Amino acid sequence: MKPVNVGICGLGTVGAGTFNVLQRNLHDIARRAGRPVRIVHIGARRDNPACQLDGVKVSRDIFAVVRDPDVHIVVELIGGMTVAKELVLAAIAAGKDVVTANKALIAVHGNEIFAAAEANNVVVAYEAAVAGGIPIIKAIREGLVANHIQSLAGIINGTGNFILTEMSEKGRAFADVLAEAQALGYAEADPAFDVEGIDAAHKLTILASNAFGIPLQFSKVYTEGITEITSEDVQFAEELGYRIKHLGLARRTEEGVELRVHPTLIPAKRLIANVNGVMNAVLVFGDAVGPTMYYGQGAGAEATASAVIADIVDIARDIDSPGLVPHLGFSVETTDLPVLPA
Ligand code: HSE
Repeated sequence: MKPVNVGICGLGTVGAGTFNVLQRNLHDIARRAGRPVRIVHIGARRDNPACQLDGVKVSRDIFAVVRDPDVHIVVELIGGMTVAKELVLAAIAAGKDVVTANKALIAVHGNEIFAAAEANNVVVAYEAAVAGGIPIIKAIREGLVANHIQSLAGIINGTGNFILTEMSEKGRAFADVLAEAQALGYAEADPAFDVEGIDAAHKLTILASNAFGIPLQFSKVYTEGITEITSEDVQFAEELGYRIKHLGLARRTEEGVELRVHPTLIPAKRLIANVNGVMNAVLVFGDAVGPTMYYGQGAGAEATASAVIADIVDIARDIDSPGLVPHLGFSVETTDLPVLPA
């Protein structure tokens, strides 16, 4: 079978993880994809000592990856919104499929990006944008496809959950744990996105869009972070038999969809109250299946790479049959279900 050629833009935490996992599991991945999956071009402003790049073309100009006629799939892992948006739209215009882990980009500019992808008959896949290694987008779009989804709730920021867990279990100070999350590669380039709830709001926007078939509406998410939570709050909650968890919540109401992210007191016995550290968990309630729960590492190089590569393999399986993978492309659904203002 003809190989599929991948170009990776960005060699930070997730870029390096993707490169390394793809190289390490090359044979299994090729067998599952039904063809070899090769990294042929990397666009990165600088090398990453975590990666052995011998034999791979490297460009300092990331747009060189998009221009490379050998590249079939462009993997956007540079983060941020301005250049990333330009890069993704350029890849789409060049007729290339795109894989991205960029939740901010999808949550804020996704409607425009998916419309461009549809017009150019290419796929934009973004499993890694939500809940790190948990295949939650595939679970909602494929596994739960029969259901009318009523609500979902989840711990969807690993850094925030790591901070709350360490404060609660070890009495550590907020700033100290945040610095460790940054060193471990969990936090956003600007960690305010993690602790102020913005990252969780991006992810909730994407989840709700998939679950309810509505356009992305980031501005309608009520957003509150964990910066006001003190060690005393955490201790008092424990004494009363509760845990403080930062949740993203989306539910249908009579008036429309309600979207909110904020700290929540949860009885300590509940499963979700025991999701600790960098782990994420998402509960989805479908009318047919009832409650379902998905658990796994929500941030970090290889966990996120696992989701990026799942998208690459999905595209690789069908790359010779464009148009046969609509399940991967985001259908720009326009149901008239309103989303309530934040
Ligand atoms: N900063 C994010 C988190 C990375 O901590 O969850 C994964 O999206």
